[in-house]
Amino acid sequence: MTARTSLASWQALSDHAGQMKQAHMNDLFNQDKQRFNKFSLQLPALLLDYSKNLVTEHTMEKLFALARDCDVSGWREKMFTGEAINRTENRAVLHTALRNRNLDPLYVDGENISAQVEQTLGKIKTFTEKVRQGHWLGYSGKRITDVVNIGVGGSNLGPQTVTEALKQYSDNSIKVHYVSNVDGAQIAEVLRPLNPEKVLFIVSSKTFTTTETMTNATTAVKWLVSSSFDERAIAKHFVAVTANKSNAREFGIAQENIFDIWDWVGGRFSLWSAIGLPVALDLGFDKFLELLEGAYDMDNHFRQAPLAENAPVILALLSVWNCTFLGAQSQAILPYDQSLHMLSAYLQQAEMESNGKSVTWNGEPVDYATVPSIWGELGINGQHAFYQYLHQSNNVVPADFIGSVESVTPVKGHHETLMANFFAQTQALMCGVDEAQVRADLKASGRQSDYIDKVAPHKVHKGNRPTNTILMKRITPKTLGSLIALYEHKIFVQGIILQICSFDQWGVELGKGLANKIQQELTEDGLKGDHDSSTAELISFYKNIKAA
Ligand code: F6P
Repeated sequence: MTARTSLASWQALSDHAGQMKQAHMNDLFNQDKQRFNKFSLQLPALLLDYSKNLVTEHTMEKLFALARDCDVSGWREKMFTGEAINRTENRAVLHTALRNRNLDPLYVDGENISAQVEQTLGKIKTFTEKVRQGHWLGYSGKRITDVVNIGVGGSNLGPQTVTEALKQYSDNSIKVHYVSNVDGAQIAEVLRPLNPEKVLFIVSSKTFTTTETMTNATTAVKWLVSSSFDERAIAKHFVAVTANKSNAREFGIAQENIFDIWDWVGGRFSLWSAIGLPVALDLGFDKFLELLEGAYDMDNHFRQAPLAENAPVILALLSVWNCTFLGAQSQAILPYDQSLHMLSAYLQQAEMESNGKSVTWNGEPVDYATVPSIWGELGINGQHAFYQYLHQSNNVVPADFIGSVESVTPVKGHHETLMANFFAQTQALMCGVDEAQVRADLKASGRQSDYIDKVAPHKVHKGNRPTNTILMKRITPKTLGSLIALYEHKIFVQGIILQICSFDQWGVELGKGLANKIQQELTEDGLKGDHDSSTAELISFYKNIKAA
């Protein structure tokens, strides 16, 4: 037994799960009229209703006991105060310091990182104002109209998700584009309509070694230089965000055009650093600051609220309950606001790259189910695509429904239709409809018994499908900051409970290394690697067709 499974609270939950698997949420609601009040939380940015989970007060008590046994509060403090909780890389985990608006000094390896953060924020402010006000000009003296962010993973998903979510807050003085894929089709498509004299490239890469990003950045340099015939244009059209300044300089980016990030910022948590530069350029520095303030509010809630009233803790415990104890294998993220259309992709990296691991932080095999696979889509589109599976397949998929009371872009009559679906779906997933009811409804609609016998089993919905509902008043930079930070902290707590090091990503290295070798084979004649027969034949098929 690993340390976690031998905890009394873990074992109590295992036993309790056996009983709860026999329960139905409909009965739990019928037995307790206070259920919503007991299992919901209202924070300044959002309401969290978790009453539609297969939990009772006993379940929650046992889950909070588990959190206490795993010392979630102690680990939380270690994170906020800069202990090296990223054990395998021996690094602090301090994305919270990037949005710590009280500016208290915080020391990592003897350096006051709060001062470094403020300095970089100052640099972002000055730079974004210069560009937005037209004081930063391209090599031929023209104003910048388009920004192209080149980056992948955390150096893309965070800022792009926010850019998309806050489109309505942009004055559109600058148009922001994102290039992440090394498939040349993307950069070609982005660059085609742009005028090189008016474009600013941001090369965003913490390591400044990521092949995809470096390949795209090199293509962008060639595109620029071939139109200006002058390498000095690079200084006016390229900035970098990186922790690897020497590589950025070697690439040709001027020292003063490099924005710092630091080892203690994980890629998938880096949105709040200069990786958010495209957001600041698009919306203006003040709105970027509001995003940070929203995250800071959630940090304070997470750090101060008791476990039983702590939204990230509750979301994490419910995920552990649904997956590890009740056996769910995936989790859907279902935003109903159009503007959140990239949220599930963002959370996929945040959760799966953080906790998709199978050894504990001590390197021992994990002998329990860890995190689910995360997937999702805009709710309404999902309803007409995969919700059938959510309602009636044998696999139970817990889902987070995320919506807003007010639309940022109101169009008469639309929002009520949207939100009626939002409320109806969690109700349907929970309540379901049994065969007796199906038969009664069919009979009442005048159907004959032959037809009823044939169709009734297909119309049964077992219900009892867990959902969380997150309802914001409206999406603003601040509420969005809070929402994203809510999930970041949820992921942190999951990692602590499951004893996983959430802040490394060794699992992406093996494929990267092999791709580098195979790329050589693809480009050099006669080079043959030592592969399994499938990979060898695929490569040779590819090369033969290319050569023909
Ligand atoms: O390969 C995975 C990863 O390392 C992510 O963790 C990271 O967000 C992404 O690649 C991009 O890395 P970088 O910012 O160093 O280019």
